[in-house]
Amino acid sequence: MSGKLPSDFLWGYATASYQIEGSPTADGRLPSIWDTFSHTPGKIKDGSNGDVACDSWHRWGEDVALLKFSGAKVYRFSFSWSRIIPEGGRDDLINADAIEHYRYFIEALVKNGIKPIATLYHWDLPQTLHDRYGGWLNKEEIVQDYVNYARTCFRYFGDLVKDWITHNEPWCVSVLGYGTGVFAPGHKSDTEHWIVAHNLLVAHAYAVKAYREEFKPSQGGQIGITLDCSWQMPYDNSPENVAAAQRGIAFKLGRFADPIYKGYYPAIVKEMIGDRLPDFTEEEIAVVKDSSDFFGLNTYTTQLVQDGGDNEIQGNVKYTFTRPDGTQLGKQAHVPWLQSYPPGFRSLLNYLWETYKKPIYVTENGFAAKGENVLPVDQVVKDTDRVEYFQGYTDALLRAVTEDGVPVKGYFAWSLLDNFEWADGYDTRFGVTYVDFKTQRRTTKESYQFLRNWFPEHVET
Ligand code: BGC
Repeated sequence: MSGKLPSDFLWGYATASYQIEGSPTADGRLPSIWDTFSHTPGKIKDGSNGDVACDSWHRWGEDVALLKFSGAKVYRFSFSWSRIIPEGGRDDLINADAIEHYRYFIEALVKNGIKPIATLYHWDLPQTLHDRYGGWLNKEEIVQDYVNYARTCFRYFGDLVKDWITHNEPWCVSVLGYGTGVFAPGHKSDTEHWIVAHNLLVAHAYAVKAYREEFKPSQGGQIGITLDCSWQMPYDNSPENVAAAQRGIAFKLGRFADPIYKGYYPAIVKEMIGDRLPDFTEEEIAVVKDSSDFFGLNTYTTQLVQDGGDNEIQGNVKYTFTRPDGTQLGKQAHVPWLQSYPPGFRSLLNYLWETYKKPIYVTENGFAAKGENVLPVDQVVKDTDRVEYFQGYTDALLRAVTEDGVPVKGYFAWSLLDNFEWADGYDTRFGVTYVDFKTQRRTTKESYQFLRNWFPEHVET
């Protein structure tokens, strides 16, 4: 081992349409469920919405310049479904203006030597489909409409885009959108999120099938899904807590990853959820199994896991950052769910490789430093905590690849820009670039510079 990442290692940044684009009615776009949700009083912490966000629908040239100057090799962005097919459905009109706009943007990336990686679904379901038949709850309709939307993207962009991600984080879409209700469309239910998760898997799989059969032979790309998971570490060595950590991973990740990479749901999930976990038909599971060319991983933190609690969504386990001796696992971020713990990242990469045997792309990883919502820009840009986070996580990545032999092929920091952080609004900032949301002025932070230096030093030439 050379101690460096291989020369074809891809690194860059990730963003998502609703979080950066703004312009909710421009060029024929119609609302998505996130427009409706963010405009509902009480849903977003600071009462904001994505109407302007980073104004990237207009300022995409600035985004490309930031990427170019950063030295990034790849950019992961998502398409807004309700721009491309404003009403969303298979019999609805395709919006040529949106296609033209996205093509200009993707061409600019390619001209600047930045490889585009496109996510088809980063949470912004066309509102029309939700109103028409219940959106993700209605398998017969949504699978056909999603596959039609996916095909539209492959057809219009597949000459330029060779790397596709079907869904971003089906756990968040289903559990936060239809279980706890803190994300759009805001449903609270202990049955719906299992149905939605199942439908997301089936829709993903049929989109992959369409790509592989109809587009890949001429376009020659790859396609997969992005799942989210923290490393889950037993609180201590007690057998209950060791078992709890395994159960926690099954409920967070295995319920998606096992059907895709192994062809069945984890036994413990089936056992606990019973009839509420929809079964795959034989045809469906044959399509779901092996439906991802790689393992797309979004990961931010590590959690200590204890047995107990009656939170079925997470497999009746409890999470904490406080060790048995009372110390904290790592540095606390602005958001309560995130502490920095690089060794957990390395363990997770090893676990995924051992369990699923697929090359890994870390499609998101990042840190929201404290105080960036209130401090003046000259202090925010000295983002020492984020720099330390990236120092630790890139080192863990390097060790996982060079010392442990885990085939990680790419790394995308979240995020290029401060942006609309879902239910937190603009209160939480994950960017390596500070955005003044009043003026839209972008100022790079020290973490931008850190990554700009780190990758060239640690990737073989
Ligand atoms: C999502 C991003 C989000 C980030 C930080 C991920 O769950 O894919 O859209 O901004 O985490 O919370």
